[in-house]
Amino acid sequence: MLARGPLPWSGGCPVQDEARARRGRVAVAEPAPTLHPDVLEVLVPADALARRVRELGAEIGRDYAGRPLHLIGVLKGAVTFLADLARALPLPDVTVDYLAISSYGRSTETSGVVRFAKDLDEPVSGRHVLIVEDIVDTGLTLAYLREQIGGRGPASLAVAAMLDKPERRAVAVRVEYSGFRIPDRFAVGYGLDFDGHYRHLPYVGALRR
Ligand code: IMP
Ligand code: MG
Repeated sequence: MLARGPLPWSGGCPVQDEARARRGRVAVAEPAPTLHPDVLEVLVPADALARRVRELGAEIGRDYAGRPLHLIGVLKGAVTFLADLARALPLPDVTVDYLAISSYGRSTETSGVVRFAKDLDEPVSGRHVLIVEDIVDTGLTLAYLREQIGGRGPASLAVAAMLDKPERRAVAVRVEYSGFRIPDRFAVGYGLDFDGHYRHLPYVGALRR
């Protein structure tokens, strides 16, 4: 039988196993879900992420019915969530832009310093803007973005963040659409990285450190 089922992690090899099985050398059983060796445990499994994105998409669809919606993704971590969320929006008029802010670099601790590393390509004035972010940690990034983008005269401004670490909050910030609360662990996967790695993992996991 060929290997089927969810991708364990991208280093897992269902494709290779299938190829081997096709060549008739190995009979492949259902693969045991394999965790990336640098991940201690799964915080949010891939199927839960997919379910929650569908719920958020439906909710946002209801809230913005009859209005054009402009999504602003915060590079690079929000790319995965934005790609899924955009496709879950039952809205006829959705546009997308991206910005980048200064990142953690090689550390797992925030510097507290937030600045634009890449500004938006398009103006937001008069548009219904939804900032799409991967995770709210101290809240400094989103507080800064709400202030900066809010100052450019959007018709409305809201935030969607897939993950939230409320224990780490340093400044209060409003998040209208929130996916999951996670404990104070360094999370990787579903767009979140450490030093540029692990963004491709289909689940959110706690990094082994
Ligand atoms: P904040 O400004 O402290 O809220 O941090 C927000 C940004 O820090 C997020 O957009 C992420 O890029 C990054 N970040 C915060 N926590 C984590 C984590 O657990 N894993 C990976 N990146 C994180
Ligand atoms: Mg980020």
